[in-house]
Amino acid sequence: MIALLQFVFRLPQASTVAPDVDRLFDFILWTSIISFIIIVFGKLFFLIRFSRKRVPENQTAYITGHTATELGVAAFLTVLVMVIFYWGWVDYKNMRSAPRGAMEINIVGKQWLWEMHYNNGRTLTNELVVPLGKPVKLIMTSKDVLHSFYVPNFRIKQDLIPNTYTSVWFEATQVGEHQIFCAEYCGAAHSGMLAKVRVLEPDDFEAWEVGYEKGTKPGTEKQKPLAETGKELFAAKGCSACHSVDGKPGLGPSHFKVFGRTEELTTGETITVDENYVRESIMEPNKKTVKGFAPVMPTFQGQLNEEELNALIAYLKSLQ
Ligand code: CUA
Repeated sequence: MIALLQFVFRLPQASTVAPDVDRLFDFILWTSIISFIIIVFGKLFFLIRFSRKRVPENQTAYITGHTATELGVAAFLTVLVMVIFYWGWVDYKNMRSAPRGAMEINIVGKQWLWEMHYNNGRTLTNELVVPLGKPVKLIMTSKDVLHSFYVPNFRIKQDLIPNTYTSVWFEATQVGEHQIFCAEYCGAAHSGMLAKVRVLEPDDFEAWEVGYEKGTKPGTEKQKPLAETGKELFAAKGCSACHSVDGKPGLGPSHFKVFGRTEELTTGETITVDENYVRESIMEPNKKTVKGFAPVMPTFQGQLNEEELNALIAYLKSLQ
């Protein structure tokens, strides 16, 4: 019976985390259903069994309370809530930490479409093509207002926030198409901000990528890899005047192996160089200056679009 209901009402479990999410969801659902039955039917039972008609007045003892029972119920409920919290935290932590070596794809949300930027330079609109059985990390930002990337079949949802990067990861377990929704009201065409994830067998994905790179797939032209675009921007915007890429000292910190590095700031704090720190350093360069350097970098606010920022970050990631 339950299996039949689940078959009818349950969305496909198309990612590795989907069964985890559903297990916890089921636990909370059944806990609620059982509590509902106990409370409602218990109350009805007492109402009828101990009504004035059935039990003459002054025949039952007048009870004011029972400390042990009350404490017991409170303790039981506290433990139950903590179990749900801990369980949720374990799953949440897993959903927040992408496995090492996950394939990275940049997503830019705009009113009202999704742009997917691959490291090989390919840009897709409202379509995300990924391989089956490989972890994929999405690094996302918004060009205008809040959006939210939501794939029900994968049980993942993550807000996109202007001027900052958020990320989410998944590993697809079902070949085929899965719906992407925007789950944050973002204006007139919010409900039309739809896209698809297309999951391909690893071999098909490789062919898709290669086909694209060879320029053989009709309607696609070979594009420059993101990191290469970033390298050109790095020179064109004058970054290379102060930041070396080979570890040599300069006016600013060298960008050799910069990504993922832990830097000490002038304030004594330390920071790990990630997408958000790089972005902030380009937009508000002197907010967090690395120790040993003067706060002299000019801002690039308004001079770089989201795609160019993604390209610069991809280039810095390549300097390993
Ligand atoms: Cu984008 Cu709603």
